[in-house]
Amino acid sequence: MSEGAPKSTHFGYKTVETEQKADLVADVFHSVAAKYDIMNDVMSFGIHRFWKRFTIETAAPRPGMHVLDLAGGTGDLTAKFSDLVGPTGKVVLADINDSMLKVGRAKLRDRGIVGNVNYVQANAEALPFPDNYFDIITIAFGLRNVTDKDAALRSMQRVLKPGGKLLVLEFSKPQHEVMRKIYDTYSFKILPKMGQMITDDADSYEYLAESIRMHPDQETLKQMMCDAGFEQVDYTNMTDGIVALHRGYKF
Ligand SMILES: C[S@@+](CC[C@H](N)C(=O)[O-])C[C@H]1O[C@@H](n2cnc3c(N)ncnc32)[C@H](O)[C@@H]1O
Repeated sequence: MSEGAPKSTHFGYKTVETEQKADLVADVFHSVAAKYDIMNDVMSFGIHRFWKRFTIETAAPRPGMHVLDLAGGTGDLTAKFSDLVGPTGKVVLADINDSMLKVGRAKLRDRGIVGNVNYVQANAEALPFPDNYFDIITIAFGLRNVTDKDAALRSMQRVLKPGGKLLVLEFSKPQHEVMRKIYDTYSFKILPKMGQMITDDADSYEYLAESIRMHPDQETLKQMMCDAGFEQVDYTNMTDGIVALHRGYKF
């Protein structure tokens, strides 16, 4: 922990010591890794595929590019990027959690996706890559789980090439009161029960719902990206702002 860093932070609605959070988040993803993909489809009614497709379209990778799929987990974005950057390009799927990386690597290899993908266990707060290396960085549903989000954004800014773009796909704040009410009922009453049924783990899905509520809203995240040195930062709300895609450039 850096000097002057806060001693406590949030893990969902709980206040925990800053040093504890990464281990608590690790427990969540070790626990859900094997059933992560099926839970994503079930709990989002498949809509996460649309959110991810829009992210890929906005990223607009070209053959030969270097792409970092940070907090890439089971590799949904990596699989698409691998195809689009082709044999002369490179995709790095980086994640802090070895259980998620193992599931991702096995899934992609089963699909015959090899050759231009590397798997790296890394903490977003201190990326082990050279300066100015990637053309595109994505972090999908990952930033919410990172303890020091500002450090992570600065680290992404460092490894992005001038002219490169960062895309942050993350849960955000629904724009209409009626949607907020439906979404709250769904998240706090139904989601943990689904988690219990499918993964035998209600706690991880309670954390999911709570961590979403504690995550910075659209405008706050936009400001954080600007503070980390990104330029022309803007965002697109999807599904009434349940999810937002933030975009920022390095010049
Ligand atoms: C909800 S999953 C998202 C996986 C994938 N990007 C997707 O959209 O399906 C969140 C991922 O963030 C990873 N993660 C959490 N904290 C991290 C950190 N500090 N650095 C890198 N990855 C992290 C977790 O291990 C997990 O795989």
